[in-house]
Amino acid sequence: MKRQRVAVIFGGRSGEHEVSVVSARSVMAALDPERWESVPFGVTRGGAWLTPEETARLLNAGGPSFPGHGTLLTSPAALAALGRCDAAFPLVHGTYGEDGTMQGFLELAGLPYAGAGVAASAIGMDKALMKALFREAGIRVPRYAVLRSWETGEGDDRANRYVEEILGYPCFVKPANGGSSVGITRVDSREDLAGAFAAAFAYDDKAVVEEAIAGQEIECSVLGNEYLEASVPGEVVPDRAFYDYDSKYSATSRTQLHIPARLAPAAAEEVRALAVRMFQVMGGEGYARVDFLVRDGHEVVANEVNTIPGFTSISMYPKLWEASGLPYRDLLTRILELAFARHERRAAR
Ligand SMILES: Nc1ncnc2c1ncn2[C@@H]1O[C@H](COP(=O)(O)OP(=O)(O)O)[C@@H](O)[C@H]1O
Ligand SMILES: [Mg+2]
Repeated sequence: MKRQRVAVIFGGRSGEHEVSVVSARSVMAALDPERWESVPFGVTRGGAWLTPEETARLLNAGGPSFPGHGTLLTSPAALAALGRCDAAFPLVHGTYGEDGTMQGFLELAGLPYAGAGVAASAIGMDKALMKALFREAGIRVPRYAVLRSWETGEGDDRANRYVEEILGYPCFVKPANGGSSVGITRVDSREDLAGAFAAAFAYDDKAVVEEAIAGQEIECSVLGNEYLEASVPGEVVPDRAFYDYDSKYSATSRTQLHIPARLAPAAAEEVRALAVRMFQVMGGEGYARVDFLVRDGHEVVANEVNTIPGFTSISMYPKLWEASGLPYRDLLTRILELAFARHERRAAR
């Protein structure tokens, strides 16, 4: 069988640039060389696309990130190189990568690509949209409200009233568009509420405030197009009040993972069924990591869906498949096969 050329696209303009580079290094090292030839495309922090040669040079030099300004349109050599690929594996986390924009571009380019499509990606990057869809589908979500930046502050006490009359403390304030816990605050008292909104509005004009769910943080991996499968659930035990940026990535983090999660069989089954349901409700295909908060060991509450989750060999998404009997390399092959299958199904219409 002829090897297919896979454009691995990573880095990018989001705060998760470095994480993306690490994910891409792992993916490229693990892709089955009998079937796939990986072609690296680094996207700089400023948004320029590097050619595969430029990207390889920076990767070999050990670069944790790609500096430089520009846009896709100032990178014609990279675009031409992309035109010589058979498929794409987008691994840019967050804005301009995980949010549907990259997927839209790949649709226009006519390339099969790994992971969720345009609409599911966009929904997955908007915590307000995502929660509304889940609630509509009868899936339990924390009580929450959505606020715009111009709806809080001097003389407008809607946020305070909602929190104090409905939610109580502690609560969580998040930018609607975010990731890696950036801009998220756990608020324990009224004094911290205004600061929490200011922190969220530094990233987005739309914020979500929600009740805190005390309990376990459970994650489940899903995979498939028309038929989705769910992995065994895993559990994250952050080493601090919540799973913030440092507990996710810092070298000194003492965050623990339990695979499988410490859940009774019935709760684990509910998590797996809900994970599939949540991705389906978003119209998702390909793969995703679905996150939950579980109260008292049995009350499963939906938190969020990540359409481009961390993808290093020690990240939760591949580890959960590993524990379910699907090794990292085979998982990557499966994800690419799903990309081709979806492309062919849609082209046949
Ligand atoms: N309602 C909640 N109750 C308890 N903890 C929460 C809640 N919302 C968020 N958290 C904590 O904050 C972390 C990040 O929030 P999340 O909504 O997953 O945003 P991100 O997309 O940045 O990962 C979660 O992993 C969890 O530790
Ligand atoms: Mg999360």
